[in-house]
Amino acid sequence: MLTLGIETSCDETAAAVLEGDSRVLSNVISSSIAKHQPFGGVVPEIASRHHLENIDTVVRCAIKEAGISLGQIDLIAVTQGPGLIGALLVGTSFAKMLAYVLNKPLIGVHHLEAHLEANFVDGKEPPARYIGLIVSGGHTHLVLVNQGQYTVIGSTRDDAAGEAFDKVAKILGLGYPGGPEIDRLAKLGNPKKIKFSCGHIPGTFDFSFSGIKTAVLYYVRKNASYREQISDMAAGFQHAVVKSLVSKTLAACERYQVSDVVVGGGVAANSELRARLKEESDKHGFTLLLSPLKYAVDNAAMIARAGYVGFQKGRCSDWSMTGAANLPMGENHAHA
Ligand code: KG4
Ligand code: ZN
Repeated sequence: MLTLGIETSCDETAAAVLEGDSRVLSNVISSSIAKHQPFGGVVPEIASRHHLENIDTVVRCAIKEAGISLGQIDLIAVTQGPGLIGALLVGTSFAKMLAYVLNKPLIGVHHLEAHLEANFVDGKEPPARYIGLIVSGGHTHLVLVNQGQYTVIGSTRDDAAGEAFDKVAKILGLGYPGGPEIDRLAKLGNPKKIKFSCGHIPGTFDFSFSGIKTAVLYYVRKNASYREQISDMAAGFQHAVVKSLVSKTLAACERYQVSDVVVGGGVAANSELRARLKEESDKHGFTLLLSPLKYAVDNAAMIARAGYVGFQKGRCSDWSMTGAANLPMGENHAHA
């Protein structure tokens, strides 16, 4: 079975072809990051325009690289939400058009569920029950996944983890997206020199990352020589964010008696987060699955995989399926 995945929720126009449940035949991404860089963040209108101008080519490339013809596709999976509404509408409209013309089934996919599915595109078996940590540019969620059912047990009260990386990078005068830059600089710095900490919300699995961003801003305002300390600041900031993510994830495993952890989303590419999660999981006897780097950031292979899994469970979307900026997990519009 061949699934075409289409992703247009934010700043990447992506298409991929998946054979069966885990053989990626092609994975094409056209990023609009360079167009947003002068503005220091994603400009929704520019993202939508980029999707409109590129989606046709990206899908054609994915089909060509897979060595198949469009008519051989058995299922079309598309990101339904959450994301930028204008961007989502380009992908969902295009997918519906293809499904109609080719007379193939269509399935709307939840972008965050797909970030967890990214761990299984290369053949790994999903654990029956696991704690999912989703850390992207727009979301930070802790999810209990039980036989494919998603229950959000914690999320950020304010900024997402990736958003905090991006905003702190902006404060420090670094480029967009900020995560990879901070990750690189943190390796050169000492996390103990300038200490930051994340807000702790006791008795919950919720996160808070806006306070630490403000702390970095105040430090910059108060220290005229902050430019000489940028790597120490990056290290101190990253250390605190990673500590918060790791401690809540492990606490969730203990609380729900779960021994498998699955991590997805762009921030899952962070080297310190990967190292600390591995260290702590080993120490506590948990099994850790981390998205391979190329599937951690937005891509369509994960959308195809999530669509395939949903379809196997008997789910499918009708023509009323459309982009949904705030789609809750486990409740996408695809129906049995
Ligand atoms: O999942 P993603 O590609 O897009 C969304 O769905 O939002 O995540 C993008 C986010 C950005 O905020 C980016 O700064 C962050 O992932 N990111 C990182 C790293 N690579 C990407 N954050 C920390 N360390 C990294 N190495
Ligand atoms: Zn994403």
